[in-house]
Amino acid sequence: MSTGDGITYREIEEGDFASIKALHVECFPVQYEDAFFRNACRGVGVRDAPLVSVVAVDCESSSVVGCILAQFNPVARIDDKHLFADSAEPPVDALYILTLGLTRAYRRSGLGTHLLQRCTDRARANARCGAVYLHVIHYNESAIRFYEKNDFVYLRTLDEFYTIDQTYYTAYLYILYVNGHRAPLLSRVLLNARATAKQSLTFLYTWVATALMRIASDGASGAAKLPRGAQDSFPPNYRKEGVVATPMG
Ligand SMILES: CC(C)(COP(=O)(O)OP(=O)(O)OC[C@H]1O[C@@H](n2cnc3c(N)ncnc32)[C@H](O)[C@@H]1OP(=O)(O)O)[C@@H](O)C(=O)NCCC(=O)NCCS
Repeated sequence: MSTGDGITYREIEEGDFASIKALHVECFPVQYEDAFFRNACRGVGVRDAPLVSVVAVDCESSSVVGCILAQFNPVARIDDKHLFADSAEPPVDALYILTLGLTRAYRRSGLGTHLLQRCTDRARANARCGAVYLHVIHYNESAIRFYEKNDFVYLRTLDEFYTIDQTYYTAYLYILYVNGHRAPLLSRVLLNARATAKQSLTFLYTWVATALMRIASDGASGAAKLPRGAQDSFPPNYRKEGVVATPMG
């Protein structure tokens, strides 16, 4: 299906092996075996689970420019036993994102968000599904920002999760709860504490940055001291010629 943005979206096909493999080599430090791509092209995920896939194809060049591969994992078979709060009707499945990647030229224009949304829509449409989750290597800050922007929350850290060139790397587990399901109580408490700490840090950072900018601009202009009233009112909305202090909070 084409969406009018010059990109067509479809499921993965048998003939995608070479282009999907090339895309993964470009996007990920982890090397996947050919069997992973062969199975994916047949619609089969890890441990024979049926694959959920969306492939983005450039209409003009007919080349694959991005894809998301995911699978519904039965909650009972997921190693992590603390993804969900106890509930009278626990979820049966959780949608696991195996990989999501775009070729470089197509990044940062909303395509990743579009592919992710198509995938999360599948999870929401499945009443048995309680969440969409994934692992991201700890240093992939752009992906972390991307998932957080798309309402995924950090749940936990997994040490030595990835092995790349005989070196272990930490992964973070990110999750988006759907269909009314929630994290376990302790995780919710920790998540709230983390969000509060993050907000406080942003607040502090903004305050310090604003103060430094003000000092720098005073120094540069050789300006004398601020008028008493302005000093008293800082930081909210202090204005002087050419300088507007950013309001905090
Ligand atoms: C991660 C990836 C799929 C994101 O797709 P994308 O189409 O580039 O992202 P979007 O344009 O939809 O971005 C949505 C938001 O994510 C965040 N984001 C995305 N890329 C970012 C970057 N490089 N730096 C900081 N924030 C970023 C921003 O908040 C952005 O919103 P904004 O553009 O309004 O600021 C893409 O960058 C990619 O393929 N990366 C390489 C493979 C990879 O790391 N995959 C994830 C593995 S877990």
